[in-house]
Amino acid sequence: MTTDAATLSHEELFLRIRALKKEMNALILAHYYTVPEIQQVADIVGDSLALARAAEKNSADVIVFAGVYFMAETAKILNPEKLVLMPDSYAGCPLADSCPAEEFRAFKESHPGALVITYINSTAEIKALSDITCTSSNVEHIIRQIPPEQPIIFAPDRNLGGYISRKLGREMFLWQGCCYVHDAFSESAVLEACRKHPEAELIAHPECRQEVLRHAHFIGSTQALLQHTESSSSGSFVVATEPGILYEMKKRSPGKTFIPAPKDPENPFSVCTQMKQNTLEKLYLAMLNRTPHITVPDELRIAALKPIRRMLDMSV
Ligand code: 13P
Ligand code: SF4
Repeated sequence: MTTDAATLSHEELFLRIRALKKEMNALILAHYYTVPEIQQVADIVGDSLALARAAEKNSADVIVFAGVYFMAETAKILNPEKLVLMPDSYAGCPLADSCPAEEFRAFKESHPGALVITYINSTAEIKALSDITCTSSNVEHIIRQIPPEQPIIFAPDRNLGGYISRKLGREMFLWQGCCYVHDAFSESAVLEACRKHPEAELIAHPECRQEVLRHAHFIGSTQALLQHTESSSSGSFVVATEPGILYEMKKRSPGKTFIPAPKDPENPFSVCTQMKQNTLEKLYLAMLNRTPHITVPDELRIAALKPIRRMLDMSV
């Protein structure tokens, strides 16, 4: 269906989206890295774990996922009977795409007997080759439950895997993928921001490189960083993660100061362009036209569901 959506104001799009939401019995989920207007229209805004949980337990007929492809795909794997829509199905995750199934199968075969733990930022094919999935919120909790003598393969994020490996003193076979957004923070640019704001705490996502993480006062998932900014006695923070989270940080702590960590001296932010592909207009059109929607072949879905279920059962 064609429409004049491009000419509609945000207010008009909000009204239309809300009306469609009621009519379709839809639930709108959005990641903290999306643009503020998407976060405003969403029913639930969260990190990867919170959104997977919300996708698992709800009474909606339709899930509209404003995030990246693996997130909507996970929602579909958990809800084969529901229509799962995405505002832009080209919003992929380069980290997930850095781990092709055939190469990963060979990697797995080169470490026989290893338990395969994969970050939820992976394709359904990789999940189907895994024993347990995890997110940055529960990775530590999950790995602590694995007997120390059990070898582990961790994929696809080498920075998150390396961080947990150092923290728990546990060697793991790491797939060498990374998130371009977090891997891009340069140590010197981040330290320069800290020098300019000596009163600020440096907080960082574990997808950042070790040389950035080693200077951080606090390291945690998107949700953990958010909670830390609320509970910390500090009044200002240099934030080394995707700057979309600053919207919620400022909302929850209006009196505090948030400085996005610079990527390098020329770039004041490190932005996930895929998350920003979610616009109000595309979200409205996806609901109106009931497309693009996610499909996962049944055999793949059943194989990919197992490690997701295991993660949800092992998480607190
Ligand atoms: P979390 O939402 O688990 O913090 O992961 C960050 C991220 O990069 C999501 O794509
Ligand atoms: Fe993928 Fe990184 Fe973007 Fe998250 S922030 S969706 S891991 S590229």
